[in-house]
Amino acid sequence: MQKLLRTIAMFLVIATVVFAAGCAEQGGKKTNESTPAGEATTAQENNTIRKSTSEQMPTYIVGTEAQFPPFEIVDSQGKVIGFDVDLMNSIAEDQGFKVKYVDQDFAGLIPALQTGNIDIIASGMTITDERAKEVNFSEPYITAGLALAVTVDNENIKSVDDLKGKTVAVQTGSTGFMKAEELKKAGIVTEIKDFAHVNEAIEELKIGGADAMINDLPVTNAFIAAQPGVIKIVGEPLNSESYGFAVRSGNTELIKKINTGLKNVKASGKYDELLANLPKYMEK
Ligand code: ARG
Repeated sequence: MQKLLRTIAMFLVIATVVFAAGCAEQGGKKTNESTPAGEATTAQENNTIRKSTSEQMPTYIVGTEAQFPPFEIVDSQGKVIGFDVDLMNSIAEDQGFKVKYVDQDFAGLIPALQTGNIDIIASGMTITDERAKEVNFSEPYITAGLALAVTVDNENIKSVDDLKGKTVAVQTGSTGFMKAEELKKAGIVTEIKDFAHVNEAIEELKIGGADAMINDLPVTNAFIAAQPGVIKIVGEPLNSESYGFAVRSGNTELIKKINTGLKNVKASGKYDELLANLPKYMEK
């Protein structure tokens, strides 16, 4: 039985390859899944191989730092899930491409995009002017903003004005990090401690290694929902930020697909459905 199934599977793979070779149409993007870098295949051939193994659809590698609820987390099976994933999957479905998620440090996402290790960033990434010089952002897909958090028993820090002489914990490379740097330059914050993951910044607060944390408000709220009684948000949100998906600068074809897909997903009502589903990624 096993053998028979394997034979059928093999046959299907071969049939698809032959079929795709016959089609050999343009439009796919890279992946080094099937062709190691440096191997002497033309882009066209590479394209064909990849398309054939994924039912004629291009596969894009999506980079994300998946300890960032409710936008991206890893489930018990090791699968990356979350609002960004749901939305990107819907866009991919609408636009006829496939996606494969890679979980990595946030600070390395833009370099990974630039070197071609990933094709898309879907990681709750705020659209900023600085980053827009390095990547192509999609239209904004959701609004968030930064918030200040302290341990539940902290009564001294109620806003950024109370950060004079204080140590602030942030995620490396995040807009929270940039805000902390701004406050440090302004002579308010004394020290910044940055961590690859938000939960490490929270740990630092818990052990008293930092006085406050600056992080995206919905994400801090998600951590609080999952683990109440540890930290709390204080004061008003520090700003308003928009998240966008990012592709390599000049990859206009892909950013067009993403923007069109996003528009369609919004128009169809699917986006609202996903939004309504978002709180499920905030529970423990
Ligand atoms: N929105 C913030 C930024 O763009 C933080 C994003 C962090 N995302 C993540 N998946 N860890 O800098």
